[in-house]
Amino acid sequence: MVPKHIAVAIDGPVGAGKSSIARAAAARLGYIYCDTGALYRSVGLYCRRNGVDLKNADEIAAQLGKIKLEIRLVDGTQHVFLNDEDVSEEIRLPEISMAASAVSAVPAVRAALLDLQRNVAANNSAIMDGRDIGTVVLPNAEVKIFLTASPEIRAKRRYDELVAKGKDVKFDDVLRELNERDYADMHRETAPLKQADDAVLADTSELDFEQSVDLVCRIINDKIK
Ligand code: DC
Repeated sequence: MVPKHIAVAIDGPVGAGKSSIARAAAARLGYIYCDTGALYRSVGLYCRRNGVDLKNADEIAAQLGKIKLEIRLVDGTQHVFLNDEDVSEEIRLPEISMAASAVSAVPAVRAALLDLQRNVAANNSAIMDGRDIGTVVLPNAEVKIFLTASPEIRAKRRYDELVAKGKDVKFDDVLRELNERDYADMHRETAPLKQADDAVLADTSELDFEQSVDLVCRIINDKIK
């Protein structure tokens, strides 16, 4: 049976270029792009704004009833609404990254976000990126890609991005934060970051952006033909 919608799961560590590569591949292939990290970032933002102790899983879980998240497409681009406020810009601030990683380790948070993510793939052909898309969210995805690059290269890309935005950052701090977040994401008990058995490994350490997009599109096209 030909599936009604194609689901592409892209997982990988911090700074592998998942969002920008997945967004470009989705635009080229005519898929919806869904950034699931934005959901965890929104929960992290809510907790930070409300002084929630990010080391206290029960306190984080207790916030869920007060959080309404929605994914809306505005001109084909994903926007995330937190209690009806568009937080798509604010969640990208570097200080939200660690909060997102902390809340993402709480099983109740992960459970609360599952349907939202699955609905996107049920209603659209989608490229969805995150940490557990191929393993937990969309285990039956037609295409699974584990996108990575060496830690130093990922940190260098992240550092260049932040400097281009005028941020005063040190490379060593960016590398340390990236390693800490990867460690936390890979070692949490629920849905840790790992390559699904049936995922194709795509290492972009030696590739520029266009070559990475070409590689991802090639993997997708090879799988679905
Ligand atoms: O991809 P990102 O940096 O925006 O993700 C922010 C955090 O959210 C990341 O440290 C781990 C978590 N996350 C997750 O646990 N599962 C996902 N599917 C996406 C993100």
